[in-house]
Amino acid sequence: MNETIQNLKAHVSVRAFEDTPLSDELKDALIQAAQSGSTSNFVQAFSILEITDPTLRKQLAEITNSAAYVEKTGTFYVFVADLYRHAMLLKNNGQSIEGASNTEALLVAVVDATIAAQNMAVAAESLDLGICYIGGIRNDIPKVAELLALPDHTLPLFGMTIGVPVHKNETKPRMPRSNQVAENHYPKEVFTDFSQYDAQLTTYYQERSSNAQQADFSTKMAEFFSVTRRQEIAEFLKAQGFELDK
Ligand SMILES: Cc1cc2nc3c(=O)[nH]c(=O)nc-3n(C[C@H](O)[C@H](O)[C@H](O)COP(=O)(O)O)c2cc1C
Repeated sequence: MNETIQNLKAHVSVRAFEDTPLSDELKDALIQAAQSGSTSNFVQAFSILEITDPTLRKQLAEITNSAAYVEKTGTFYVFVADLYRHAMLLKNNGQSIEGASNTEALLVAVVDATIAAQNMAVAAESLDLGICYIGGIRNDIPKVAELLALPDHTLPLFGMTIGVPVHKNETKPRMPRSNQVAENHYPKEVFTDFSQYDAQLTTYYQERSSNAQQADFSTKMAEFFSVTRRQEIAEFLKAQGFELDK
């Protein structure tokens, strides 16, 4: 197995960082990695905002429920699924913006932003930095959009905190292959049989060095999805000019 795959397999989210800011050179390398990903039809429908203003960082940190590691870290980026540039281009051409504002266009932008972010994550981890995605910015998405002065046709998707780790958890065991990988057709029964994974995760949660608990995958997921979260997001997307019924 080569070093790239070993690094991918060693991934853990890091939630405790040194305070030292990342150098410009390092950040430049991370941005280049993010910008080099595949992008649907070359649309490059994402933006990256580095949050350097301490007041703004604090305001965002408070929204995220992950304040400690959003504030005390090497740097913090917000990834934006972004069709503003494309909508402007169409408007300036006197064209309809429908093609850049329907659900498919939104999916394209979400995928592009995610690929860019994951490229950055992999690059950071290859440099022995730690990362944590911060979906918590969507806890108050209209406020985040306001704080970042985001225009129409944009969606603040998640943040990413990156820095020198002071602590790393053990890797979390992923699903057995039998639950996620198949040939040709979707095996409904096998993919939803969590008996093996629940047993494995029960041991993992009991034995892990921090936040040990009695839990398994099925109970965690049943609990997580018992709440319909962030219901205001559909409204926000419509207000941003996305047409979700097209
Ligand atoms: C899109 C996305 C958003 C996330 N948001 C948060 C977050 O707001 N706060 C946090 O502590 N972890 C967040 N995480 C990290 C996940 O909790 C973590 O990836 C998952 O538990 C698996 O653990 P691991 O990354 O250590 O393997 C997020 C991950 C993703 C992919």
